[in-house]
Amino acid sequence: MIVSKAPLVLKLAGEHAVVYGRTAIACAIDRYVRATLRSRGDDKIVLKFRDLREEYRRERTSSFFRYVNECIRLIEEIHGEKLKGIEIELDIDKDVNPGAGLGTSAAACVATLAALCKYLNISDNIAELAYQVELRVQGRASRMDSYTSALGGITIVRRGTVERAHIDTSWLRIGIILLRKLRSTRELVKHVADLRSREPELIDEIFNLIERISLRILEALERRDVEKLGKLVTRCHWLLNMLEVVDYRSNRIVIELLNNTNVAGAKISGAGYGGAILFILRDNLDSLELKELEVIHNSNAFKILCPVRISDGGVEVLERGY
Ligand code: PMV
Repeated sequence: MIVSKAPLVLKLAGEHAVVYGRTAIACAIDRYVRATLRSRGDDKIVLKFRDLREEYRRERTSSFFRYVNECIRLIEEIHGEKLKGIEIELDIDKDVNPGAGLGTSAAACVATLAALCKYLNISDNIAELAYQVELRVQGRASRMDSYTSALGGITIVRRGTVERAHIDTSWLRIGIILLRKLRSTRELVKHVADLRSREPELIDEIFNLIERISLRILEALERRDVEKLGKLVTRCHWLLNMLEVVDYRSNRIVIELLNNTNVAGAKISGAGYGGAILFILRDNLDSLELKELEVIHNSNAFKILCPVRISDGGVEVLERGY
């Protein structure tokens, strides 16, 4: 049996602007997708999914299967002879359900590919393969999620490349509120493209500001300046509003979070219209009295992850024997 686990991904700054070559900052978090691969007694690869909650079943399950299927297809194309006649069962388990804006699909691809490559004794660039799978399934993708999940820690995404920033983030505590997504990433990316075609100079200025914030976020992280970090992520949130990708529920939650004395800053993470909202906790706090956030009770927030830490490691393969 081989077990691999790949971290989920949060975007600290740079969504949408990164599509136009500006710098974005992402991070791997201590919530994972795990792939377990077992030998079977026949010649089939069987995919199983655990922990799929009711609310996702309707719209997400089938597309999630497509990512994992595509991973197997890609490996078959590249290393066909190695997959011939193999007998394995693949089981995917995850801390957060797909569609939450935490790079679940990318992490599933990274975990699946890492387990498959280990099983077949192939050394390949897992991050790049996972990116190729995302491209095939989605038609359009950036390397941000797949590379960050594979590499771990804080990453700098710039003009199609992703590199790791070696910054100690053990002091950092983040919270995440997950909201039902009302519009797809594809739709939102298209919306921003339409905005830009109508007002190129104005929208490019917004992208430039987002890039400057990304770079300052790196400085704030290096200096362990939680206040500065909070202010910067919040500014990024309001700039995303200028790109019209933030819905009313998310703004209400962000405002409510900003009114909490234990929160240094908050923003949406990902393409927008629901998904993940991140908040930076002050003073090494490990939790927040979220029950006091009335707005959460009144909205359809469906999951709160708190505290979340940066996962220093990327994808990991644990071999447990067959
Ligand atoms: O919502 P997510 O987690 O799929 O993030 C999308 C981020 C974008 O910058 C909007 C698109 C991209 O491919 O980088």
